[in-house]
Amino acid sequence: MSATQEISTISPIGRETPRVDGPLKVSGQGQYTADFHFAGMLYAVPIGATIAHGRVIELDTAAAEKMSGVRAIFHRENIGKIFRSTAQPNFEGICEERRPPFEDDIVRYYGQYIALAVADTFEAAKAAADAVRATYAKEKPNVETRLEADDDPDLVVTSFGPRHRVDSQRGDAQAAFARAQVNLDQTYVTPAETHNPLEPHATTAMWDASTLTLYESSQGVVNLRSVLAQMFGLPNENVRVITKFVGSGFGDKLFPWTHCPLAAAAARQLGRPVRLVLSRKMMFHGVGHRPRTQQRVCLGATPEGKLVSLQHNYIYQRSMLDAHHEDCGEATPFHYSVPNLRVTFGRAKRNIGAGADMRGPGAVPGMYATESAMNELAHQLKIDPVKLRIINEPKIDEGLGLPFSSRHLLECFQLGVEKFGWSKRNPVVGSMKRDGVTLGWGMAGCAWLAGRFAAAANVQLRDDGTTRVACATQDIGTGTYTILAQLASQKTGVPLEKVEVALGDTSLPAGPISGGSLATASTVPAVFAAADSAIASLMMVAATTPGSQFLGRKPEDLAFENGRVFVKTDGPGTGAHFADLLRRANLRLVTGSGDAQATFGDPKAKFSTHSFGCHFVEVTWQPEIARLRVSRVVTVIDAGRILNPLAGRNQIQGAVVMGIGMALLEHTSYDPQNGAPINSSMADYIVAVNADVPPIDVHFLDFPDKEINELGARGIGEIGLAGIAAAITDAVHHATGVRVRELPVKIEDLLA
Ligand code: MOS
Repeated sequence: MSATQEISTISPIGRETPRVDGPLKVSGQGQYTADFHFAGMLYAVPIGATIAHGRVIELDTAAAEKMSGVRAIFHRENIGKIFRSTAQPNFEGICEERRPPFEDDIVRYYGQYIALAVADTFEAAKAAADAVRATYAKEKPNVETRLEADDDPDLVVTSFGPRHRVDSQRGDAQAAFARAQVNLDQTYVTPAETHNPLEPHATTAMWDASTLTLYESSQGVVNLRSVLAQMFGLPNENVRVITKFVGSGFGDKLFPWTHCPLAAAAARQLGRPVRLVLSRKMMFHGVGHRPRTQQRVCLGATPEGKLVSLQHNYIYQRSMLDAHHEDCGEATPFHYSVPNLRVTFGRAKRNIGAGADMRGPGAVPGMYATESAMNELAHQLKIDPVKLRIINEPKIDEGLGLPFSSRHLLECFQLGVEKFGWSKRNPVVGSMKRDGVTLGWGMAGCAWLAGRFAAAANVQLRDDGTTRVACATQDIGTGTYTILAQLASQKTGVPLEKVEVALGDTSLPAGPISGGSLATASTVPAVFAAADSAIASLMMVAATTPGSQFLGRKPEDLAFENGRVFVKTDGPGTGAHFADLLRRANLRLVTGSGDAQATFGDPKAKFSTHSFGCHFVEVTWQPEIARLRVSRVVTVIDAGRILNPLAGRNQIQGAVVMGIGMALLEHTSYDPQNGAPINSSMADYIVAVNADVPPIDVHFLDFPDKEINELGARGIGEIGLAGIAAAITDAVHHATGVRVRELPVKIEDLLA
């Protein structure tokens, strides 16, 4: 066996690697934001408006202020200055609700913070918050569910920059639709959905003179720092954000929300640390939601199933002030080969909190619509839905006119068909039975963007044979601690248990948000460059330290592999371990920094970079008792090289679970009287739980995508949620004959 093979067999890359932080979590030692305690810490509870449209005309805080243990009731008059923030280049300074809390007396959504109670204990703060009385000038809120596009200009400003309302266009889609022999024109609706991570949003803020430290449950500490620094008029280096463990985030924790500056402002006024933890109910108001969408899809095709025209017009709801963009057309221009295409969008203002990214933003509701339309077209043409997709498989990204860096969707279909047993499908509605229940089989494809955010990292090699890798990214439960350890181990040869990972702290080299499924791909080149730099420093030490066996050697004559420095001509396995070299030189460590530029959003990109996949779903239907269950799912994903298949499968399974929720359960309803989210509790907002979830059989293709990074790894956090709802609703149609085009599928829909 050659040395290279030896190393590859011990490489942690591509191995089923259990979480390196698992023991800390299961033993309760992993500290989440609300687990940090500080001397003199006070507790804050926000008071939310109980109207969704109007004005606060009087705030009576007298009774609350007199209550025992109460330190202050803050409101517009006494909170102190909080500035607005603005976006910066390179995807920094992003915020979905720009209005600083308490900026004016106008109420634009139910639950908008109008005051903040701070007390010695949480209980006292909660009691005081409940004792604050507000009087409003109330107007009727607009929470209308039917969406019509507002009169926006052709170019709109969104949270992520300007966007043309004609998103993508080629050929003449309207004329081609009119001429097409086969037409499909349907509208699909997805409801508002609320992020429900187990750990609610939380902030603990404290000041030391003009330095602000924030413990925050965040998916992006660096971005949060830049927004909060702006809100308090500080240089970035005067703000530190710490996020050691996150009890999950689905996009709600990507960018800061208004409770965060409130905690910081209260801490400033009182000169004490202040902790603010949102209640589950508050999670439905001011920390984002997946906006409701209404999407019209028009397909024109030949009788043989070749698409000649594709139009996708989507409208989404947004808040009164904010400009989250729900990019439903993200995958539409490239997913199928079609000469005539037009993707357009509109927005509809409502008296609700700001919309936000939620796992697979844009593409998840978007592909529900487009993949549903493809399934309906397949049914109309009596063509197998897999075959219809194969007929329309593109050779390049026809939207950008660029080749794909790597696209293996057809191989995904092939494997999915085989694993699911799709060839046994009888397409006749209600025709398939098993054990007295009706079966429905459906499928859909999926896609999700790939690329890198800018990232920097630091790697140390230490005299006890350990290594430390540091990057100001976060682990939101997806496995980033483990991935960073794997990357450092790969480069340094240090076994995983001797790798220290430091993340979740803005004092570390700036790292990416845990978003867009880009964190892993982004950190690979940064960590590798940092490790190379540390190793270069080590070579220099080896060649210059008196008494070193390499003294006088040129660094370029030396090599490093598997933790050892050796003379190239002697080969690996010879030489000395870095720990011995460091000890001999009386060095505790050598250190190296590295970074890598972003590819995400690069206007000069030479390739179209995406991940792909497909879902095959079986449902069972018992009309006698109106019971619908998802009974089997096969998902195949082409996401480049999978660095940790254990964590990778976990991500896809989790996304499929959310997809079952999206298809059958999840929706946030707003009360037309007062604009309140009606079902704002875990009892009333139903998410898929174990009892709803069948065996989920996940397969990964293994086509490394070297355009993304040298390991060929794309991302896997979100793609598993794209397409699944379309596969489930198609399976529901196959079982019941009912075509549901508004999610979630309700039992009432099936009782025709
Ligand atoms: Mo994901 S919605 O980018 O956290």
